[in-house]
Amino acid sequence: MKFQFTYGAAASGELSAFDATVKLITGEELQAQGGAPWIHPQVDDELRRLSAKGLFKGEKGQKVTIATLGLHAGAQALFVGYGGVTADELREAGAASAKALRKLKARRVQVLVPSSVLSGNADCSAERAAQSFTEGLILGWYERPKRKREHGKELEPVDVQFIPEAQEAGGETAKARWSAGVKRGELFAEGTLFARDLTNMPGNELIPEGLAEYAEEIGHRYSFDVEIIDEFTAIDMGMGGLIGVGKGSAHPPRMIVLHYEGAPDSKDVWGIIGKGITFDTGGISLKRAEGMEEMIGDMGGAAAVLGTMRIIGELKPKINVIAVIAAAENMPSDRALKPGDVIVTMSGRTVEVVNTDAEGRLVLADALTTAIRRGATRLIDIATLTGAVEVALGNVATGAVTNDELLLQDIIRAGRTAGERIWPFPSYPEYRRQLDSDAADLKNSGGRFAGTITGGLFIGAFAEDLPWVHLDIAGTSWLKSSRGWESKGATGVMVRTLAELLSSRS
Ligand code: BES
Ligand code: MN
Ligand code: ZN
Repeated sequence: MKFQFTYGAAASGELSAFDATVKLITGEELQAQGGAPWIHPQVDDELRRLSAKGLFKGEKGQKVTIATLGLHAGAQALFVGYGGVTADELREAGAASAKALRKLKARRVQVLVPSSVLSGNADCSAERAAQSFTEGLILGWYERPKRKREHGKELEPVDVQFIPEAQEAGGETAKARWSAGVKRGELFAEGTLFARDLTNMPGNELIPEGLAEYAEEIGHRYSFDVEIIDEFTAIDMGMGGLIGVGKGSAHPPRMIVLHYEGAPDSKDVWGIIGKGITFDTGGISLKRAEGMEEMIGDMGGAAAVLGTMRIIGELKPKINVIAVIAAAENMPSDRALKPGDVIVTMSGRTVEVVNTDAEGRLVLADALTTAIRRGATRLIDIATLTGAVEVALGNVATGAVTNDELLLQDIIRAGRTAGERIWPFPSYPEYRRQLDSDAADLKNSGGRFAGTITGGLFIGAFAEDLPWVHLDIAGTSWLKSSRGWESKGATGVMVRTLAELLSSRS
């Protein structure tokens, strides 16, 4: 769905110029007597009647639609509750609005911006408020695209006009601030939707080479240098992890590298690394059939990296980034990796493969080495790594494992701003010992217990003592039902956290 955002006064007089008018309202405002009308005295009275019956309290996520029958420029008045001026409340209100507007098939929408939102506060500036509401609106509108026999007709774009509730509220500065926030919200949401679309693609449509093509397209658009390392070069470079995982499939693996240089004089280089398994059958250690279709989403980390790089390309922050995506398809076949095989990774470290379903860490090992050899000085990997993280944290928080508390705190803080929760696991030395192998430097599975930690620490073994954070998104990157601004299926989680982290520093 395309959106067009404008900011300004309503075209006066014209009735039913809009399909809907969104009125954000708090519980307090709903109780207050007197003051200017919200929509129109008669419509407002109807809302108060509904409220008196307890049908609408102006709480977060609540909404009610009332037909204005010619009394207002918006044919439908959509009242959306919110708990106050915070980024999370406004993102939630944006998403609630989107769901209702979608149902109304609204294409021309007016959003009344409350003065308290337009002026912002210490915790949530006007820009942040605008960004959050816009993100909620766009992200909340999204649904996984269906492949259908009959193609529906192309939908008109949604026109959204923001209108300050109090006329002359702050004038041009308010307009500039609000518009800047809306713009940032659009960018952040579009990066996230890009990641969702990619992650929602079926495994027969998206193979490692396809992932490489998307990366090239982004590189071309934003003038990033792109390296696509094919299977032959990967063999020459000694990428035993990537090759091992990819060799069971007819679709060869790819190591994908994007270079962004926004601070040529700085030696600091962010290494942002994504797991790009375009389908994970488990390999010879085959997964059970039930739910295996969700493994089309096993490249959610790669998608998050690409979504972030699009935003980086737009905002051009003064930092350096090396983005690495390890792309492969994990299949069982006569050529596939087998349990008991010992492989040599690009770092030289040897790995005993005890479970071919622990494939993410094998490709990521080589991806970390790739980033380090190209100059990365701090590393973040994003991966749908373990089912265990969903056992521990459900779909509510992304799990983190790190060797650097400060870097982790920065990421958690960025996540808080973005409304994406990240929760750290401990990394005591005992856990690392679960990966000791009789046959190699380490084995690729530490068993059932503390699976998220041992999986993370396996990757950390390839960080060469650089500051490193691992984000396990296996629980948060895919939802069985939609929630707020997050859609059913792929959520595009971590795009906005990473974009926030990388764009708010220089
Ligand atoms: N891609 C899976 C993890 C996963 C599980 C992602 C559920 C999304 C939803 C990963 O490759 C995997 O299979 N991990 C194994 C590790 C084990 C063999 C050590 C797991 O979690 O069972
Ligand atoms: Mn697996
Ligand atoms: Zn996997």
